Amino acid sequence: MNNKLYRIGQLSKKAELPISTLNHYLNLKLIKPEKVIGSGYRLFSNKTLETILEIQKLKKEYLPLSVIKQQLRKGRELLIKEPSAQYRQLTLPTFEPEYPPITFQFPSTRFQGSKLKLVEWIWQNCKHLDFNSVLDAFGGTACVSYLFKTRGKQVFYNDYLKSNYYIGLALIENSRETLTQEDVEEILKRHPEMKYPTFIQETFKGIYFTDEENEWLDVVVTNIDTLITNIYKKAIAYFALFQSCVIKRPYNLFHRKNLYMRTAKVKRSFGNKITWDTPFPVHFVRFVEQANESIFDNGQKNKAFCTDAFNVKGKYDLVYIDTPYISSKGVGVDYLEFYHFLEGLVKYNKWETLIDWKSKHLRIKHGKSIWNDKNKIYQAFDTLFKKFADSILVVSYRSDGIPSDADLMSLLKKYKAKVIELNRKNYKYVLSNNGESQELLFVAE
Ligand SMILES: C[S@@+](CC[C@H](N)C(=O)[O-])C[C@H]1O[C@@H](n2cnc3c(N)ncnc32)[C@H](O)[C@@H]1O
Repeated sequence: MNNKLYRIGQLSKKAELPISTLNHYLNLKLIKPEKVIGSGYRLFSNKTLETILEIQKLKKEYLPLSVIKQQLRKGRELLIKEPSAQYRQLTLPTFEPEYPPITFQFPSTRFQGSKLKLVEWIWQNCKHLDFNSVLDAFGGTACVSYLFKTRGKQVFYNDYLKSNYYIGLALIENSRETLTQEDVEEILKRHPEMKYPTFIQETFKGIYFTDEENEWLDVVVTNIDTLITNIYKKAIAYFALFQSCVIKRPYNLFHRKNLYMRTAKVKRSFGNKITWDTPFPVHFVRFVEQANESIFDNGQKNKAFCTDAFNVKGKYDLVYIDTPYISSKGVGVDYLEFYHFLEGLVKYNKWETLIDWKSKHLRIKHGKSIWNDKNKIYQAFDTLFKKFADSILVVSYRSDGIPSDADLMSLLKKYKAKVIELNRKNYKYVLSNNGESQELLFVAE
């Protein structure tokens, strides 16, 4: 027997089906990987390939996937004996798919405040709600949007950072485009006929990356910007570029001029050095593969926006709100401060005009956001809850932040009749006086 195992890209070639279709089958549990290896890659066997071929054959008989799934479970004899027309006349039982965890196919991202580890818990507490369209107003990595996408909802992703918006485009709005090997080669090579700018090499020398890496960034960002015209392919390329940049940074951030932490010849007690020193193209290709593997069509018209949450237009059945967090000491997470370098990459041609040249780490100029201001944060939440008062509101926050959970509860109660507060461990209806930091979820109907 042939025991060869395939990655999803190889399987897609063998089965002659796009990865998005295979991901759809995975979501419906029609197929499953033989195993998942440490880095998160799924490996499939020839048995899976046979199942896929079987599915394709049954699809030609106009059988819906729900029936195909039942048939695959029962075995093949029935199908051979019974004429397919009979199935077409059957009243189909409602098919309630069981979902695999989304971490299964969501690419690995490093991002302050990501809810990736909490998405299953969020789903457990939302699945009973009656909704189809959902707005993820502070989308970040898009993992919560992706959760809803896997659950068949119509998803609207939003984030005010353009670098994040591209993630929303790549993984949420996009339902079929992937970056091919040829696209990746175009992006990674230096084209002799092109004249490459040297902005990053000159501006950020010694700040975040080595000279050689800065030169690579100037080339690759120019190639993505000028050679990749399809917006979703471009978005996947930016996604892979951002994650490659973040993974090579101490603390995965751009808040300090600290390249020396990577390059200093000191004895280290942690293993990040290998990741930091892994060349950009290696990371880039891996992130492209991961993004490609996560793209699928959920049958809905999903959309990504890039605007301030206060300016999002439209009506949504449910609005998920995961704002930046302000600690009890009043210190807020300033996303533009942390990720300004990625914002600069997507605004490469005008980056120079955006920089605060007085700052040591050459961040992008920006004022203080209402979401980082402990004196204005109540007003911010109040305005947002009012704006989306007709929707079911689902709000993530932390138990030790400003506003407190009691304040959030009373703000929500101004607009909603039924508000439930949950924390990571216990399901509870009353407010907690627990001092430890816990993840909170408010569900307001
Ligand atoms: C806590 S993070 C969201 C994390 C996200 N739920 C996830 O799991 O990856 C907050 C996000 O809000 C975005 N943001 C900050 N201010 C915003 C604003 N005024 N409007 C929209 N998005 C904003 C930040 O860029 C950041 O991505």
